[in-house]
Amino acid sequence: EQPQDLTGLRLLITAGRNNEPIDPVRFVTNRSTGKMGYALAEAAVKRGAQVTLVTGPSELAPPAGVTAIKVQTGLEMHDAVMAHVAAQDVIIGAAAVADYRPKLRHEQKLKKKDGPLVIEFERNPDILLEVGKQKRADQVLVGFAAETEQVLENARGKLERKHADLFVANDVSQTGAGFGTDTNIVTLVDRAGDTPLPLLSKREVADKILDRVLELRTREAGP
Ligand code: PMT
Repeated sequence: EQPQDLTGLRLLITAGRNNEPIDPVRFVTNRSTGKMGYALAEAAVKRGAQVTLVTGPSELAPPAGVTAIKVQTGLEMHDAVMAHVAAQDVIIGAAAVADYRPKLRHEQKLKKKDGPLVIEFERNPDILLEVGKQKRADQVLVGFAAETEQVLENARGKLERKHADLFVANDVSQTGAGFGTDTNIVTLVDRAGDTPLPLLSKREVADKILDRVLELRTREAGP
């Protein structure tokens, strides 16, 4: 029997990748499948939360009981999150948001030409940073850091820079961790310290993250 310990809480979770179009038939993307974010959404809903899942393209079906908002690009993900953030108690960024988008979206299919093709990219907004800057004291903000080197240092840097309460450090170079797998190996990084977790299913990782979110809410509320 699942404890209903998230009853009354509203969670917004981002999941998956973005497709950033070059022309009508091509886009730039990354390897995120949405498994981590969907596992979080499913775990939260089973524990009684009201869940909004802002998801990029994914093969997965949104878990029963969540409100799913489907987007393609980083800009669309940004707009969907910003439209719903004020109503949330907890915001979790599990999506691998595209950091860059092609500067031009060509109206017609690009034709082959002699010589190399150069595509110019411009920065997408940093959604988590923007949420962190306007976050209320009663809101808990959780980020993920997908890293291949200096994992904990980088996660701690992002925790501070993005004004988050918790970062999930994800060494995506380890077997069984990161993009596409059903399991993950993460360290929970917050202002009280680092908590390394063993190899777990993404669903188990999701429950550990939600446990920590509840602890952070209690800590925030004071004795
Ligand atoms: O979907 P799966 O296949 O299950 O894979 C899971 C995962 C590896 C994608 C996931 O566990 C993970 O690590 N997600 C974060 C990936 C990422 O983009 O990390 P980052 O270090 O580049 O970004 C740091 C944080 O800022 C993230 O919470 C990200 O959602 C957020 N961000 C990043 C860029 C941007 N423009 N806007 C953001 O909000």
